[in-house]
Amino acid sequence: MTPKNNEPKRAFGPFSLSVEQIRPHLLVNVSEPEMVKLIVEMSAKFTKKRDQISDYVMEHRHVSAYAAFYLPTNIPKLHFLLSKLPSDVLDDFKNRPFIDVGTGPGTFSLGWKMLLKTPGHVEMIGVDQSQIMLDQATKIMTAFYPKDKFLAVRKFSEPKTNSVLFFGHSINEMGREKAQEHIMTIDPEYVMWIEPGTSEIFPELIKLRDVMLDHYDVLYPCPGNGTCPSDWCHQVLRTTHEPSVERLSQLVSLDRKILPMTAHVYRRKSKTPVVTNEATVIRYIQETKFSFEYEVCHLIDGVNKNSVIEIQKKQLTKEEVKHFKNSNVGDRLSFEVEKMVGEKLRVKLL
Ligand SMILES: C[S@@+](CC[C@H](N)C(=O)[O-])C[C@H]1O[C@@H](n2cnc3c(N)ncnc32)[C@H](O)[C@@H]1O
Repeated sequence: MTPKNNEPKRAFGPFSLSVEQIRPHLLVNVSEPEMVKLIVEMSAKFTKKRDQISDYVMEHRHVSAYAAFYLPTNIPKLHFLLSKLPSDVLDDFKNRPFIDVGTGPGTFSLGWKMLLKTPGHVEMIGVDQSQIMLDQATKIMTAFYPKDKFLAVRKFSEPKTNSVLFFGHSINEMGREKAQEHIMTIDPEYVMWIEPGTSEIFPELIKLRDVMLDHYDVLYPCPGNGTCPSDWCHQVLRTTHEPSVERLSQLVSLDRKILPMTAHVYRRKSKTPVVTNEATVIRYIQETKFSFEYEVCHLIDGVNKNSVIEIQKKQLTKEEVKHFKNSNVGDRLSFEVEKMVGEKLRVKLL
Protein backbone atom coordinates (compact mmCIF):
# COMPACT_ATOMS: atom_id res chain seq x y z
CA MET A 1 0.00 0.00 0.00
CA THR A 2 1.02 3.60 -0.33
CA PRO A 3 0.25 5.29 2.97
CA LYS A 4 0.42 9.04 3.47
CA ASN A 5 4.13 8.99 3.94
CA ASN A 6 5.25 9.94 0.47
CA GLU A 7 6.95 6.65 -0.19
CA PRO A 8 7.16 6.44 -3.97
CA LYS A 9 6.21 3.26 -5.79
CA ARG A 10 9.24 1.02 -6.18
CA ALA A 11 10.56 -0.75 -9.20
CA PHE A 12 11.13 -3.89 -7.12
CA GLY A 13 8.96 -6.19 -5.06
CA PRO A 14 9.53 -7.87 -1.71
CA PHE A 15 12.62 -9.98 -1.44
CA SER A 16 13.04 -13.54 -0.30
CA LEU A 17 15.56 -16.25 -1.00
CA SER A 18 15.49 -19.77 0.45
CA VAL A 19 18.29 -21.90 1.87
CA GLU A 20 17.55 -24.42 -0.94
CA GLN A 21 18.29 -21.79 -3.57
CA ILE A 22 21.73 -21.14 -2.07
CA ARG A 23 22.68 -24.66 -0.93
CA PRO A 24 23.65 -26.08 -4.39
CA HIS A 25 26.11 -23.21 -4.81
CA LEU A 26 27.97 -23.51 -1.51
CA LEU A 27 31.71 -24.20 -1.63
CA VAL A 28 31.20 -27.40 0.36
CA ASN A 29 28.16 -29.45 1.17
CA VAL A 30 27.30 -28.96 4.84
CA SER A 31 24.63 -31.07 6.53
CA GLU A 32 21.91 -29.23 8.48
CA PRO A 33 23.19 -30.28 11.96
CA GLU A 34 26.71 -29.19 11.06
CA MET A 35 25.43 -25.95 9.59
CA VAL A 36 23.60 -25.25 12.85
CA LYS A 37 26.78 -25.85 14.85
CA LEU A 38 28.86 -23.61 12.57
CA ILE A 39 26.33 -20.76 12.58
CA VAL A 40 26.08 -20.86 16.37
CA GLU A 41 29.90 -20.68 16.57
CA MET A 42 30.06 -17.78 14.12
CA SER A 43 27.32 -15.79 15.75
CA ALA A 44 29.15 -16.06 19.07
CA LYS A 45 32.18 -14.54 17.35
CA PHE A 46 30.08 -11.70 15.92
CA THR A 47 28.56 -10.86 19.26
CA LYS A 48 30.80 -11.99 22.10
CA LYS A 49 34.29 -13.04 21.07
CA ARG A 50 35.09 -9.97 19.01
CA ASP A 51 38.84 -10.60 19.17
CA GLN A 52 38.27 -13.68 16.98
CA ILE A 53 35.80 -12.01 14.65
CA SER A 54 37.78 -12.72 11.47
CA ASP A 55 38.36 -16.47 11.97
CA TYR A 56 35.17 -17.55 10.25
CA VAL A 57 36.34 -16.35 6.83
CA MET A 58 39.26 -18.79 6.75
CA GLU A 59 37.53 -22.13 6.55
CA HIS A 60 35.37 -23.51 3.72
CA ARG A 61 32.71 -24.98 6.00
CA HIS A 62 32.23 -21.75 7.94
CA VAL A 63 32.06 -19.69 4.77
CA SER A 64 29.45 -22.07 3.30
CA ALA A 65 27.36 -21.92 6.47
CA TYR A 66 27.69 -18.10 6.52
CA ALA A 67 26.43 -17.96 2.94
CA ALA A 68 23.47 -20.26 3.61
CA PHE A 69 22.22 -18.29 6.59
CA TYR A 70 23.44 -14.70 6.47
CA LEU A 71 23.10 -14.10 2.74
CA PRO A 72 19.30 -14.63 2.58
CA THR A 73 18.75 -12.85 5.90
CA ASN A 74 20.97 -9.83 5.11
CA ILE A 75 19.67 -8.99 1.63
CA PRO A 76 16.29 -7.77 3.02
CA LYS A 77 18.26 -4.98 4.74
CA LEU A 78 19.29 -3.72 1.30
CA HIS A 79 15.70 -4.02 0.13
CA PHE A 80 14.67 -1.87 3.09
CA LEU A 81 17.37 0.72 2.44
CA LEU A 82 16.59 1.02 -1.27
CA SER A 83 12.91 1.47 -0.44
CA LYS A 84 13.83 4.64 1.48
CA LEU A 85 15.54 6.31 -1.48
CA PRO A 86 13.90 8.46 -4.17
CA SER A 87 13.25 6.75 -7.50
CA ASP A 88 15.62 9.08 -9.41
CA VAL A 89 18.46 7.88 -7.18
CA LEU A 90 17.48 4.23 -7.78
CA ASP A 91 17.45 4.86 -11.53
CA ASP A 92 20.83 6.54 -11.29
CA PHE A 93 22.30 3.49 -9.48
CA LYS A 94 21.45 1.05 -12.25
CA ASN A 95 24.26 1.75 -14.72
CA ARG A 96 26.99 2.54 -12.23
CA PRO A 97 29.84 0.16 -11.34
CA PHE A 98 29.11 -1.41 -7.96
CA ILE A 99 32.05 -2.04 -5.63
CA ASP A 100 31.15 -4.23 -2.67
CA VAL A 101 33.92 -4.01 -0.07
CA GLY A 102 33.86 -6.94 2.35
CA THR A 103 31.54 -8.74 -0.04
CA GLY A 104 31.77 -12.03 1.90
CA PRO A 105 29.77 -14.62 -0.10
CA GLY A 106 28.58 -11.84 -2.42
CA THR A 107 25.58 -10.99 -0.25
CA PHE A 108 24.94 -7.43 -1.33
CA SER A 109 26.30 -7.83 -4.87
CA LEU A 110 23.65 -10.48 -5.40
CA GLY A 111 21.05 -8.33 -3.65
CA TRP A 112 21.99 -5.31 -5.79
CA LYS A 113 21.52 -7.25 -9.02
CA MET A 114 18.34 -8.94 -7.89
CA LEU A 115 16.65 -5.85 -6.52
CA LEU A 116 17.75 -3.22 -9.02
CA LYS A 117 17.87 -5.58 -12.01
CA THR A 118 21.03 -3.91 -13.25
CA PRO A 119 22.07 -4.61 -16.84
CA GLY A 120 24.57 -7.46 -17.35
CA HIS A 121 27.36 -5.24 -18.69
CA VAL A 122 27.51 -3.10 -15.55
CA GLU A 123 30.73 -3.72 -13.63
CA MET A 124 30.27 -5.64 -10.37
CA ILE A 125 33.36 -5.81 -8.18
CA GLY A 126 33.48 -7.83 -4.96
CA VAL A 127 36.42 -7.04 -2.67
CA ASP A 128 37.36 -9.21 0.29
CA GLN A 129 40.56 -10.02 2.13
CA SER A 130 39.47 -13.65 2.35
CA GLN A 131 40.09 -15.68 -0.82
CA ILE A 132 37.65 -18.33 0.41
CA MET A 133 34.87 -15.71 0.69
CA LEU A 134 35.75 -14.48 -2.81
CA ASP A 135 35.54 -18.05 -4.17
CA GLN A 136 32.14 -18.42 -2.52
CA ALA A 137 30.96 -15.07 -3.89
CA THR A 138 32.09 -15.99 -7.41
CA LYS A 139 30.34 -19.35 -7.21
CA ILE A 140 27.05 -17.78 -6.12
CA MET A 141 27.17 -14.82 -8.52
CA THR A 142 28.02 -17.10 -11.46
CA ALA A 143 25.19 -19.47 -10.53
CA PHE A 144 22.60 -16.69 -10.42
CA TYR A 145 24.01 -14.54 -13.24
CA PRO A 146 26.03 -16.89 -15.49
CA LYS A 147 26.32 -14.38 -18.34
CA ASP A 148 27.34 -11.40 -16.25
CA LYS A 149 30.85 -10.55 -15.14
CA PHE A 150 31.69 -10.43 -11.45
CA LEU A 151 35.23 -9.42 -10.59
CA ALA A 152 36.33 -10.86 -7.23
CA VAL A 153 39.50 -9.24 -5.88
CA ARG A 154 41.37 -9.07 -2.61
CA LYS A 155 42.31 -5.45 -3.10
CA PHE A 156 40.83 -2.64 -5.14
CA SER A 157 42.77 0.58 -4.96
CA GLU A 158 42.13 2.72 -7.99
CA PRO A 159 39.81 5.64 -8.56
CA LYS A 160 36.39 4.82 -10.00
CA THR A 161 34.61 8.10 -9.72
CA ASN A 162 31.32 7.01 -11.32
CA SER A 163 30.83 4.06 -8.97
CA VAL A 164 28.68 3.13 -6.00
CA LEU A 165 30.96 2.04 -3.16
CA PHE A 166 29.22 -0.27 -0.72
CA PHE A 167 30.21 -1.66 2.69
CA GLY A 168 28.12 -4.48 4.18
CA HIS A 169 28.98 -5.36 7.80
CA SER A 170 32.60 -4.79 6.87
CA ILE A 171 33.46 -1.37 8.36
CA ASN A 172 32.69 -3.14 11.62
CA GLU A 173 35.56 -5.54 10.89
CA MET A 174 38.08 -3.43 8.97
CA GLY A 175 37.68 -0.30 11.10
CA ARG A 176 36.79 3.27 10.18
CA GLU A 177 40.28 4.31 9.02
CA LYS A 178 40.50 1.51 6.47
CA ALA A 179 37.00 2.29 5.18
CA GLN A 180 37.99 5.94 4.86
CA GLU A 181 41.06 4.92 2.82
CA HIS A 182 38.81 2.96 0.41
CA ILE A 183 36.51 5.97 0.02
CA MET A 184 39.39 8.39 -0.59
CA THR A 185 41.11 6.11 -3.12
CA ILE A 186 38.04 5.03 -5.07
CA ASP A 187 36.48 8.49 -4.87
CA PRO A 188 33.02 7.16 -5.85
CA GLU A 189 29.84 9.03 -6.77
CA TYR A 190 27.90 7.25 -4.03
CA VAL A 191 28.92 5.66 -0.73
CA MET A 192 26.53 3.34 1.08
CA TRP A 193 26.86 1.17 4.10
CA ILE A 194 24.75 -1.31 6.01
CA GLU A 195 26.50 -2.03 9.30
CA PRO A 196 25.32 -3.58 12.59
CA GLY A 197 22.71 -1.58 14.48
CA THR A 198 24.74 -1.50 17.68
CA SER A 199 25.56 1.40 19.96
CA GLU A 200 29.25 0.34 19.85
CA ILE A 201 29.71 1.03 16.14
CA PHE A 202 27.57 4.20 16.07
CA PRO A 203 30.28 6.66 17.28
CA GLU A 204 32.67 5.30 14.64
CA LEU A 205 30.09 5.71 11.88
CA ILE A 206 29.31 9.24 13.03
CA LYS A 207 33.03 10.10 12.80
CA LEU A 208 33.02 8.70 9.27
CA ARG A 209 29.86 10.72 8.51
CA ASP A 210 31.66 13.90 9.57
CA VAL A 211 34.51 13.15 7.17
CA MET A 212 32.07 12.26 4.38
CA LEU A 213 30.27 15.59 4.64
CA ASP A 214 33.31 17.49 3.31
CA HIS A 215 32.61 16.09 -0.15
CA TYR A 216 29.23 14.32 0.03
CA ASP A 217 25.58 15.03 0.82
CA VAL A 218 23.80 12.59 3.06
CA LEU A 219 20.72 11.06 1.40
CA TYR A 220 19.76 8.69 4.22
CA PRO A 221 18.98 8.53 7.12
CA CYS A 222 19.60 12.19 7.99
CA PRO A 223 17.25 14.85 6.63
CA GLY A 224 20.18 17.25 6.20
CA ASN A 225 23.95 17.53 6.35
CA GLY A 226 24.08 19.23 9.73
CA THR A 227 25.29 17.80 13.03
CA CYS A 228 23.66 14.55 14.14
CA PRO A 229 21.46 15.25 17.19
CA SER A 230 21.34 11.58 18.32
CA ASP A 231 23.48 9.48 20.67
CA TRP A 232 22.47 6.41 18.74
CA CYS A 233 20.46 6.47 15.53
CA HIS A 234 19.83 3.17 13.81
CA GLN A 235 17.11 1.38 11.91
CA VAL A 236 15.13 -1.73 12.79
CA LEU A 237 13.61 -3.81 10.02
CA ARG A 238 10.85 -6.20 10.95
CA THR A 239 10.54 -8.86 8.30
CA THR A 240 9.80 -12.51 7.54
CA HIS A 241 11.80 -15.01 5.52
CA GLU A 242 11.27 -18.11 3.42
CA PRO A 243 10.20 -21.14 5.54
CA SER A 244 13.62 -22.82 5.12
CA VAL A 245 15.35 -19.68 6.43
CA GLU A 246 12.87 -19.37 9.31
CA ARG A 247 13.55 -23.02 10.18
CA LEU A 248 17.31 -22.48 10.24
CA SER A 249 16.86 -19.34 12.40
CA GLN A 250 14.87 -21.38 14.89
CA LEU A 251 17.45 -24.17 14.94
CA VAL A 252 20.26 -21.73 15.67
CA SER A 253 18.09 -19.65 18.05
CA LEU A 254 18.83 -16.42 16.21
CA ASP A 255 16.02 -14.00 15.55
CA ARG A 256 16.36 -12.78 11.98
CA LYS A 257 12.84 -11.32 11.87
CA ILE A 258 13.96 -8.21 13.71
CA LEU A 259 17.04 -6.79 12.02
CA PRO A 260 18.71 -3.75 13.61
CA MET A 261 21.16 -1.97 11.32
CA THR A 262 22.95 1.30 10.72
CA ALA A 263 22.46 2.18 7.08
CA HIS A 264 23.71 5.37 5.43
CA VAL A 265 23.74 6.67 1.83
CA TYR A 266 25.84 9.57 0.53
CA ARG A 267 26.10 11.22 -2.88
CA ARG A 268 28.90 13.47 -4.09
CA LYS A 269 28.01 17.09 -3.41
CA SER A 270 26.42 18.87 -6.33
CA LYS A 271 25.53 22.50 -6.98
CA THR A 272 21.94 21.83 -5.94
CA PRO A 273 21.94 20.96 -2.26
CA VAL A 274 19.85 18.00 -1.13
CA VAL A 275 16.80 19.24 0.76
CA THR A 276 14.18 16.85 2.07
CA ASN A 277 10.96 17.66 3.85
CA GLU A 278 10.84 14.06 5.05
CA ALA A 279 11.54 13.10 8.63
CA THR A 280 13.16 9.79 9.57
CA VAL A 281 11.68 7.70 12.38
CA ILE A 282 14.49 7.06 14.82
CA ARG A 283 12.52 5.48 17.67
CA TYR A 284 9.13 3.89 18.15
CA ILE A 285 7.55 5.22 21.35
CA GLN A 286 4.05 3.80 21.63
CA GLU A 287 0.71 3.06 20.08
CA THR A 288 -2.25 4.34 22.12
CA LYS A 289 -5.94 3.84 21.44
CA PHE A 290 -5.98 7.10 19.47
CA SER A 291 -2.47 7.61 18.13
CA PHE A 292 1.00 6.42 17.18
CA GLU A 293 4.01 8.14 18.74
CA TYR A 294 7.50 8.20 17.33
CA GLU A 295 10.71 10.08 17.82
CA VAL A 296 11.79 11.49 14.48
CA CYS A 297 14.80 13.34 13.10
CA HIS A 298 13.73 16.28 10.93
CA LEU A 299 14.98 19.58 9.62
CA ILE A 300 14.05 22.73 11.50
CA ASP A 301 15.52 25.94 10.09
CA GLY A 302 18.10 23.86 8.24
CA VAL A 303 19.20 22.01 11.39
CA ASN A 304 18.68 18.28 12.12
CA LYS A 305 16.53 18.02 15.25
CA ASN A 306 14.89 15.17 17.13
CA SER A 307 11.23 15.56 18.14
CA VAL A 308 8.47 13.36 19.44
CA ILE A 309 5.47 13.32 17.09
CA GLU A 310 1.93 12.13 17.60
CA ILE A 311 -0.03 10.84 14.60
CA GLN A 312 -3.72 10.68 15.41
CA LYS A 313 -5.45 7.59 14.08
CA LYS A 314 -8.55 9.54 13.06
CA GLN A 315 -6.65 10.94 10.08
CA LEU A 316 -5.70 7.42 8.88
CA THR A 317 -7.59 4.86 6.84
CA LYS A 318 -7.78 1.27 8.17
CA GLU A 319 -5.04 0.32 5.71
CA GLU A 320 -2.83 3.12 6.97
CA VAL A 321 -3.38 2.11 10.60
CA LYS A 322 -2.26 -1.39 9.59
CA HIS A 323 0.78 0.09 7.90
CA PHE A 324 1.78 2.04 11.00
CA LYS A 325 1.32 -1.05 13.18
CA ASN A 326 3.94 -2.73 10.96
CA SER A 327 6.15 0.28 10.36
CA ASN A 328 9.89 0.21 10.95
CA VAL A 329 12.35 2.44 12.72
CA GLY A 330 14.10 4.10 9.78
CA ASP A 331 10.90 4.77 7.79
CA ARG A 332 10.42 8.24 6.38
CA LEU A 333 7.40 10.50 6.87
CA SER A 334 6.22 13.87 5.59
CA PHE A 335 4.06 15.95 7.89
CA GLU A 336 3.08 19.41 8.98
CA VAL A 337 2.79 20.35 12.64
CA GLU A 338 -0.80 20.99 13.78
CA LYS A 339 0.00 21.96 17.34
CA MET A 340 2.30 21.39 20.28
CA VAL A 341 0.91 19.07 22.96
CA GLY A 342 3.32 19.51 25.85
CA GLU A 343 6.70 18.49 24.40
CA LYS A 344 5.09 16.55 21.56
CA LEU A 345 4.22 17.71 18.07
CA ARG A 346 0.76 16.67 16.93
CA VAL A 347 1.20 16.26 13.18
CA LYS A 348 -0.86 15.93 10.03
CA LEU A 349 0.66 13.59 7.46
CA LEU A 350 1.09 15.01 3.98
C1 LIG B 1 30.51 -9.97 8.29
S1 LIG B 1 31.20 -10.27 6.71
C2 LIG B 1 30.03 -9.47 5.68
C3 LIG B 1 29.84 -10.15 4.38
C4 LIG B 1 28.73 -9.54 3.54
N1 LIG B 1 29.04 -8.19 3.16
C5 LIG B 1 27.44 -9.59 4.31
O1 LIG B 1 27.02 -8.56 4.85
O2 LIG B 1 26.83 -10.66 4.40
C6 LIG B 1 32.56 -9.17 6.66
C7 LIG B 1 33.49 -9.42 5.48
O3 LIG B 1 34.44 -8.37 5.44
C8 LIG B 1 35.68 -8.91 5.08
N2 LIG B 1 36.74 -7.99 5.52
C9 LIG B 1 37.10 -7.68 6.79
N3 LIG B 1 38.12 -6.80 6.78
C10 LIG B 1 38.41 -6.55 5.48
C11 LIG B 1 39.36 -5.71 4.81
N4 LIG B 1 40.21 -4.97 5.50
N5 LIG B 1 39.37 -5.71 3.46
C12 LIG B 1 38.50 -6.47 2.75
N6 LIG B 1 37.59 -7.27 3.33
C13 LIG B 1 37.53 -7.30 4.67
C14 LIG B 1 35.71 -10.26 5.78
O4 LIG B 1 36.66 -11.12 5.18
C15 LIG B 1 34.27 -10.71 5.59
O5 LIG B 1 34.10 -11.47 4.44
